[in-house]
Amino acid sequence: MIQLTEIHEVVQERYGAIAENRTSCCGPTGCCDDASNAAQLYDAELLAGLPADVTGLSLGCGDPVTIAGLRPGERVLDLGSGGGIDCFLAARQVGADGYVIGVDMTPAMLAQANANKARMGVTNVEFRQGQIEALPVEDNSIDVVMSNCVINLAPDKLAVFREAFRVLKPGGRVAVSDIVTEGEFSDALRADLAQWAECVTGAIDVEAYIAQMRAAGFTNISVADKRSAEEIVPIRPGMPRVYSARVTAIKP
Ligand SMILES: C[S@@+](CC[C@H](N)C(=O)[O-])C[C@H]1O[C@@H](n2cnc3c(N)ncnc32)[C@H](O)[C@@H]1O
Repeated sequence: MIQLTEIHEVVQERYGAIAENRTSCCGPTGCCDDASNAAQLYDAELLAGLPADVTGLSLGCGDPVTIAGLRPGERVLDLGSGGGIDCFLAARQVGADGYVIGVDMTPAMLAQANANKARMGVTNVEFRQGQIEALPVEDNSIDVVMSNCVINLAPDKLAVFREAFRVLKPGGRVAVSDIVTEGEFSDALRADLAQWAECVTGAIDVEAYIAQMRAAGFTNISVADKRSAEEIVPIRPGMPRVYSARVTAIKP
């Protein structure tokens, strides 16, 4: 049986190598190895003015910033912030009165994000090291939890949703892009940690995903706009249908 720590190690190794080498990330499609991934996911207007060092390290599967509908002054938390693309986009929208925290467990990713922050001279973004299953963030302190292609990588998704619920203020909202499936992966596929780290076999059935969010306390849960994830992650024969979806919810 796979240990949770083993999954964290393999995932961290993969994203550490990507941050250090800035080469391919999402497997054979090579979708994430240059700014073309960002160009696929976000409106050009949104990306305008972002340095290539930021867009070139876009490893997501959607645009949680637009899903979030951010307002000036809001406090935002990005789970698995990577090179920081969504944090920098959110920081523009919440403005000087707002604040954005990115949490990531991979030191090399945090180093890239902090280097980008310094280069851009951004002051309302902070990157913290930590696991999204045990967030280094105070209770009831966040207006919006966003995340881009990360929760599928977490071995204990219920813990992630419970933590998101804990840190959100009452009335706070979730705006996530993530990989979900229709049907579950076989045990053999789940045991393939390389594919897990490629954002494939850690993904769970959409109904189970919703059930875990509900168990954590969320309401108004919506998993919409499911798009085949074939161009984003490497899908192989024998797998269930794999989608990139927009996930929203509210902490009552
Ligand atoms: C696919 S990348 C996405 C990065 C970023 N959200 C983006 O859109 O470019 C996944 C990121 O999540 C981080 N990560 C994965 N599992 C994590 C966990 N359990 N706790 C904290 N960070 C995690 C990895 O280190 C990596 O930086």
